[in-house]
Amino acid sequence: MTVAPSVVPGYDRADWASAFRNVGVELDGAELTAARGTIPPELNGTLYRNGPGRLERGGQWVHHPFDGDGMITAFAFAGGKAVLRNRFVRTEGWLAEEQADRFLYRGVFGTQKPGGPAANAFDLRLKNIANTHVVRLGDQLLALWEAAEPHALDPETLETRGLSRLGGLLKKGEAFSAHPRFDPGHHGAPRMVTFGVKTGPRSTVRLMEFAVEDDPAKGVKAGDLLSQRSDGFNGFAFLHDFAITPNWAVFLQNAIAFNPLPYVMGQKGAAQCLVSKPDGQAKFWLIPRESGAFAGQKPRMIDAPDGFVFHHLNAWEDGDDVLLESIYYSDFPSIGPDVDFRSIDFELLPEGLLEQCRINVTDGSVSTQRFSERCCEFAMVNPVREGLPARYAWMAVAERETGNDPLQAIKKLDLSNGERHVWSAGPRGFVSEPVMAPRPGADGGPEPAEDDGWVLVPVWNGARCATDLVILNAADLSEQAVLELPLAIPYGLHGSWAASNS
Ligand code: CO
Repeated sequence: MTVAPSVVPGYDRADWASAFRNVGVELDGAELTAARGTIPPELNGTLYRNGPGRLERGGQWVHHPFDGDGMITAFAFAGGKAVLRNRFVRTEGWLAEEQADRFLYRGVFGTQKPGGPAANAFDLRLKNIANTHVVRLGDQLLALWEAAEPHALDPETLETRGLSRLGGLLKKGEAFSAHPRFDPGHHGAPRMVTFGVKTGPRSTVRLMEFAVEDDPAKGVKAGDLLSQRSDGFNGFAFLHDFAITPNWAVFLQNAIAFNPLPYVMGQKGAAQCLVSKPDGQAKFWLIPRESGAFAGQKPRMIDAPDGFVFHHLNAWEDGDDVLLESIYYSDFPSIGPDVDFRSIDFELLPEGLLEQCRINVTDGSVSTQRFSERCCEFAMVNPVREGLPARYAWMAVAERETGNDPLQAIKKLDLSNGERHVWSAGPRGFVSEPVMAPRPGADGGPEPAEDDGWVLVPVWNGARCATDLVILNAADLSEQAVLELPLAIPYGLHGSWAASNS
């Protein structure tokens, strides 16, 4: 006799799990046609996406998909047509493991080399798998992985140029975040703001701002470092993401501890050794931006509410207050050493919920507001509103209104009044991160509305056992086009939109 679950899921677990596979082919300029709808002719630019593309070697599966080698996908749009390219990042680890046809490195999320703890103990080498994010900076495409330096790629061909120290800016192996933020022009020209964390009993955050456009009058080229500062903080820092406002770089230091012993002894991956500190105190770290009104001043440290955050939506300023919008989990979600990630019980994992913290920089008071009870991840605002008050957010959500499930739908949320639109890929589709591409402003014409543009979202199509790229109208999430790719890509991590200038 079987016991019926209290809530029947609106999806087939086999459909969800069928996305976990190796990408077996690299396409070099495959023309895509719309299986349904039409590609908007005004959509001009390239969607770059990164994520794990290799999950198994020699019959052994990674312990967690986050340990999979980075594979870049590029969708180049022009004049109503789309061309697809995909290529693995030629990291040192990927090249060596392709040769050997087995795992030669341990993964941060628990993948072990064959041979048990004895074969893994004291092997503390990091495999830079370049799988987390991909952004355009100057004439380079950067494949990012937060614990070490980026890999530079050719933006057209996706060929790997090699590890990049950004012209000598980074030391060998220096951490460089996978979550840069793009300042749309808070102080003039747009910038890329990012950070690196050196962690330990005392941690250092290095904040860096880069030009993203050439400015011949000032002798500035895209990719040049414009400013940097380093600040030390007591305690172990786990900082995956951050947010910016015109005057602040805003970090949330979760109350989390790192016990490296099981990692050193070959029993667990480094990230599996992170545990919530029940008696710990989370902190907001507000670091003044060198371009802002508080340049040169010390960081502000302010007590933060309980909960665990990977990703922020946005931050902005309202007088003395900084507002930080984030996806909160009740606890740090991790997969233990004995669990197969393909059979995880979603009911046992906390769901992500979108909340806003209003932080008063002068008196340190904080108040919190929850926007929605619906499980979400991968939220973004229109890039021109980054660091500024934004009315709309786009995010991946579960099909159900409450509870934890795989992400199957896209939601547009009006942050001012809670109104929303939902587009669903269910019951057989599963979404990755949606990227909002704003409609370009017409020369001399009126500025487009904040929700004028498109949302581009890769969907795992369980019926086809392959990936679709779905183009939605950003205003009402109506379906514009579905491109059925000749490619099966596991669930991805982050991506970015690079508009064409022409
Ligand atoms: Co992330």
